[in-house]
Parts: sequence; structure tokens; C-alpha cells
Amino acid sequence: MTWRIRVAERRDVPGILEIEEAQFPEPWSRGMLLDEMANVATRRYTVAEEDGIILGYCGVMFVLSELHVNTLGTRPGHEGRGVATALLQDALADAATRQVATALLEVAVSNQRAQRLYQRFGFAPVSVRKRYYQKTGEDALVMFAHLTGAPAGGPTLAP
Ligand SMILES: CC(C)(COP(=O)(O)OP(=O)(O)OC[C@H]1O[C@@H](n2cnc3c(N)ncnc32)[C@H](O)[C@@H]1OP(=O)(O)O)[C@@H](O)C(=O)NCCC(=O)NCCS
Repeated sequence: MTWRIRVAERRDVPGILEIEEAQFPEPWSRGMLLDEMANVATRRYTVAEEDGIILGYCGVMFVLSELHVNTLGTRPGHEGRGVATALLQDALADAATRQVATALLEVAVSNQRAQRLYQRFGFAPVSVRKRYYQKTGEDALVMFAHLTGAPAGGPTLAP
């Protein structure tokens, strides 16, 4: 592994948007991303960078005592290297420092790979939001986890 995780900066936006556009049918716009990144009190946006290339990014939001995974993506061609795992570990370690107790996310019902990733961190399905994704009409699975506050370094959430 030669990449590292760090907090996202404005100069990372083009790289993040490349991944967003490659990986999601309804990619975020530059304006949406910049608004999110600017909201530092309640958001944490991070990137995995290798030799100046953005390999992946993660955006989470803290709402009261809950973490919400807003977005997570790995650059095509760099999947299966542990990039998303490391980004999630970082977000959950940050949540632990904020005494955040629970975590929630939505993921497309067909997205088995992401669901497996989240399950490794202790997320479990709790409900379905019908036609959550406007462009595809696909349902979203809502996944929930109780955070243990354990340090990063492996999946950090209780089953
Ligand atoms: C889902 C997604 C984020 C996973 O990203 P990733 O960086 O490939 O994830 P990881 O590498 O951490 O883990 C993925 C797989 O690689 C394996 N892996 C992790 N580290 C590895 C390593 N060093 N060597 C080999 N395999 C490894 C994991 O066991 C996992 O296996 P699985 O898919 O069979 O369960 C990525 O596929 C993606 O961007 N998808 C499109 C967008 C998306 O679905 N986002 C999430 C929903 S919001």
C-alpha cells in the first residue's frame, strides 16, 4: 500500500468528481461537493491519495449523535486494494472521538459489494426506502450500526 488517507481539500475536487461520475448514476455536482466540504463542523470528507492521484473518497455527516455515510467511492481500476475499508475506518475512528453512538447509511439494493463492505463494519439492514434513487428508480437499503468506540485498525463496529 502506497496511498494515504487525508482530509479532502479544494484541489481534490476534480479527482473526486471523476470517481463520482464513473461510479454513480446520479453523480454529485461540483457545487454540491464544495458545499458539503465547506461544512466542516458537521462533515468529514477524506481522500485516499497515491502519487497525486485520488484513489477514493468518503464523505460523512454528523447529525446529533449519529454518523451518516453520505458518499464513498473508489476509482475504477483500484478496487479491492482496501481503499474503501481504510476510508471507512478513518471515518469511524473520527466518530469515536466525537462520542458518536450510531451510524446510518443508504445503499442501492443491488449494490452487493458495498453492502458486504458495510456488513464487515457491523452495519445491518433495517429498512428499505422505496425508489430512493430518482434516476434509476431503485430502492435503497437502509443500514444501521451501533458504534463501539473501538480504535481504528479493523472493522470497529459491534454486530
Ligand atoms: C463499494 C466500493 C466503495 C468498494 O471499494 P474498494 O476500495 O474496492 O473496497 P475495499 O478494497 O476496501 O474492499 C472491497 C473488496 O476488496 C477486498 N480487499 C480489501 N483489501 C484488499 C487487499 N489489500 N487485497 C485484496 N483484496 C482486498 C475486500 O475483502 C473486499 O472484498 P469483497 O468485495 O469480495 O467483499 C467500490 O466498489 C465503489 O466505489 N463502488 C461504486 C460506488 C459505491 O458503491 N459506493 C458505496 C455505496 S454509497
